[in-house]
Amino acid sequence: MPICSFYIQQLKLSNYKSYSFKEFNFSEKLNFIVGNNGVGKTNLLDAVYYSCLSKSYFSSDLMVPNFQDAFFRIETNVSLGVDNQLVEFKYLKQEKKEISLNKVKVEKLTSFVGKYPCVFITPDDNQLILGASEIRRKFIDATLCQFSSDYLLHLVSYNKVLTQRNALLKSFYEKRTFDNALLDVYNQQLVQAGNFIHQFRKDFMLQFVPVFEKYYRQIFDGDEQIDIHYHSDLLDNDYATLLETTQEQDRVAQRTTKGIHLDDIVFEMKNFPLKKIASQGQQKTVLLSMKLAQFELLKIEKQVMPLLLLDDIFDKLDSGRITKIFQLIKSESFGQVFISDTDIDKIEQLIENNNCKQYKIIPLD
Ligand SMILES: Nc1ncnc2c1ncn2[C@@H]1O[C@H](COP(=O)(O)OP(=O)(O)OP(=O)(O)O)[C@@H](O)[C@H]1O
Ligand SMILES: [Mg+2]
Repeated sequence: MPICSFYIQQLKLSNYKSYSFKEFNFSEKLNFIVGNNGVGKTNLLDAVYYSCLSKSYFSSDLMVPNFQDAFFRIETNVSLGVDNQLVEFKYLKQEKKEISLNKVKVEKLTSFVGKYPCVFITPDDNQLILGASEIRRKFIDATLCQFSSDYLLHLVSYNKVLTQRNALLKSFYEKRTFDNALLDVYNQQLVQAGNFIHQFRKDFMLQFVPVFEKYYRQIFDGDEQIDIHYHSDLLDNDYATLLETTQEQDRVAQRTTKGIHLDDIVFEMKNFPLKKIASQGQQKTVLLSMKLAQFELLKIEKQVMPLLLLDDIFDKLDSGRITKIFQLIKSESFGQVFISDTDIDKIEQLIENNNCKQYKIIPLD
């Protein structure tokens, strides 16, 4: 079965970050968003991301409205296969956000997330390699929540029970009491959601690693070996038994010391941690390969062509690598792509050198 096409035709923003009101029309293939620092390139890409996933890549809903305002609104005309769809988001402070699809209210966020797959690559993403494990878990979760609404539901449930269990451990400690039966109720819920999430992440990583390696070699010409491992307390342990054996430790620490909330992805180059020895360009190549692998797996899972948002990615990459990435994204393996850059000459050069036909330049000022 062919992959279902997906692209955004038109986007109308009201009060979205720096945009008080603005309308954009896009090419179904390459879109170049060009302008000086601070003109709103990243904000526009973020609004596209929002249209797909009903959340900003960077900020909570509260921080999205144009300064001092209490609302924002996004209206998108989407083409999905043979359908044209109208998607609207209305946010009013202190009220529940409203999403509607073809003027019909979407009751459950879980039924919306995953419909419009999207991958965003920003300069801040180097934190995926350099930063804390939480950022890598967010990367996995952002992918898997688009994969499966069941995953999203289990993740919400796990986080809720984890917060409750930690609060209980704290209160036991403060009141110098202990109730094994009560703790056990939380343990069972944690085990149920935790095992589901662990299995999903483990299966995902098995698919992810070879696709990552394929892209890494394709862009990097395969001169360095990068090893990626999924680390989890649950890999060699039954979670229920683990919670029992660490009960004393948890009581002293007043929090849950083992579980999937501490999972990580470990990168190594020549048996050293990648962040210690890789150059900035190498880190960026690893990052791009991860995101392209995320793209490919989302495409296969959803059978829909995801959007690709590239925010200022050409910085720090040599021209050989830029050309490779460019050739890749303009091929049929990719659909609608948004690329932001400050340098119009560089973009025009890229378009010419790569003989791009289907594109639109969107200048911002
Ligand atoms: N909620 C908001 N309300 C109003 N303005 C905002 C809001 N959030 C961000 N901004 C402003 O939007 C402006 C544009 O930001 P953006 O990050 O999109 O610029 P950019 O074109 O990507 O710049 P650069 O080339 O430096 O990456 C900034 O001046 C920022 O302060
Ligand atoms: Mg920017």
